[in-house]
Amino acid sequence: MNTRRNGLLGAAVVTLAFAACSSPSPPPPPPPSPSLEALAKAAARAIPGAVGLTSAPPVRPLTPAAQAGKQLFFDPRLSASGAQSCATCHDPAHAYAPANDLPVQMGGPHGTSPGLRAGPSLRYKEFTPRYADLLDNPDGISLPAPGGGFAWDGRADSLGEQAQAPLTAPFEMANEGPAAVVERLRASADSAAAFVRAFGAAALASTTVAFPKVQLALQSFQLEDPSFHPYTSKYDLYLYRKPGGALTPAEARGLKLFKDKDTGNCSGCHLSEASLDDGAPAQLTDYSFEAIGVPRNPQIPANRDRRYFDVGLCGPLREDHAHFPEFCGMFKTPTLRNVATRRTFFHNGVIHSLEQAVRFYNTRDTRPELWYPTVGGRPKARPDPDFPTYGLITVQYVGGTVQKFNDLPAAYRKNVDKQLPLDGRAAGTAPPMTEQQVNDLICFLRTLTDDYQPGGTPTAPGCES
Ligand code: HEC
Ligand code: HEC
Repeated sequence: MNTRRNGLLGAAVVTLAFAACSSPSPPPPPPPSPSLEALAKAAARAIPGAVGLTSAPPVRPLTPAAQAGKQLFFDPRLSASGAQSCATCHDPAHAYAPANDLPVQMGGPHGTSPGLRAGPSLRYKEFTPRYADLLDNPDGISLPAPGGGFAWDGRADSLGEQAQAPLTAPFEMANEGPAAVVERLRASADSAAAFVRAFGAAALASTTVAFPKVQLALQSFQLEDPSFHPYTSKYDLYLYRKPGGALTPAEARGLKLFKDKDTGNCSGCHLSEASLDDGAPAQLTDYSFEAIGVPRNPQIPANRDRRYFDVGLCGPLREDHAHFPEFCGMFKTPTLRNVATRRTFFHNGVIHSLEQAVRFYNTRDTRPELWYPTVGGRPKARPDPDFPTYGLITVQYVGGTVQKFNDLPAAYRKNVDKQLPLDGRAAGTAPPMTEQQVNDLICFLRTLTDDYQPGGTPTAPGCES
């Protein structure tokens, strides 16, 4: 997020300062295992991209811990169903995001339990700071605000800590607890062997010793293996002025728009430059938490209960901010690297194409009837021929009320951020971007996909000029 926040941020900071000396305040987070934290720092320093891609990244063999992590990451025998590994939902062929377009993935002992949120990509997590209510923004300008951490609500402090959730969540790998994970590890010959090579046979003897090593192994793999942070997009070539990095006119216009504070303003949250803090290359996120009011997704089974709301930072998956109403509805800004390869978008997977995601930003306020259900109206007998079909709602209604921000309880709707392109402008007025600009922006977003082959991958249709 940036400084153009209509005073909202100031208000949040004041409320926070006040909350800090009154109850209830969140309990201090448990100290992370020092080995995990130290490892993360060391690995972030060793990331090739961190030195600005000035030379070809050195190829280093994975440490034994990371090799064990690699084996574990792909081992379905660590799940209760025997059929699900980390890679089932985080597919390396899809930038470590789900390969399918389901809004939420299925898991559990029989593979029939639906999850609650869309699966993120695991690429480019190496610079993620741990969550803080007042995180310094990597843009070096914005005031400190909620940011950082892993998962859509930032509730895990490290990749190692995060790994515990899928291993034990009843709707994911569904182990009853750490002891069950270790039991399954012992029974899976290849994983047990890799684990013993890394940590010694004694480490498998007890859950208390073994489980943190499982976490360490999974974290080491994600931090060390170059496939999690290749920095091989066209945009990287462009940033570092490498051959093949020349943007087409449409891509260049899209980038300008992405950064233009008076139009797209995407870089206000999806930081498109190297960080001023730690020199991290452009991560396309500033890790900040924002409420942008994405529509409720009726495809998520949990949402059949009308009283169920996933309000991110203040719960229900995260429990320590339940008494901070000003945080309700906020989710972590995701990186936009590889966004064009995603098949579901936003925390609840309600949107299924990049074009639709960009159009949501452009017309959430000016055409809310395209995104949120209308109640009390009746379908228009003869719909206008120019009624757009790109939204979630393709039926045109006469009368009725549009349920704007229907995935947020009414009391929290005021938390929705008011900066461009979601500046809360009136329905029926002009959207911030023209059709041409929407197209240009999508062209730019496509340059964020890894494994770009200069001269090989053709520029996306419509992006040449
Ligand atoms: C059934 C699908 C599924 C499986 C299996 C799964 N994940 Fe995930 N993963 C998810 C979802 C969904 C989220 C988002 C969770 C949330 O926000 O509460 C996630 C989030 C994450 C994140 C946080 C990413 C971020 O953007 O902050 C990491 C890291 C992660 N998973 C690693 C793993 C590892 C390691 C394993 C194996 C031990 C694993 N996952 C197994 C679905 C899955
Ligand atoms: C106020 C901060 C902010 C601004 C400005 C912003 N975004 Fe986002 N963006 C977010 C947050 C927060 C999310 C996740 C919201 C959620 O899931 O509830 C997100 C999610 C996305 C996603 C979905 C990614 C995924 O992995 O599911 C896309 C695509 C996206 N933004 C593109 C853009 C574009 C393009 C612009 C400019 C037109 C933009 N954003 C401007 C904060 C912002």
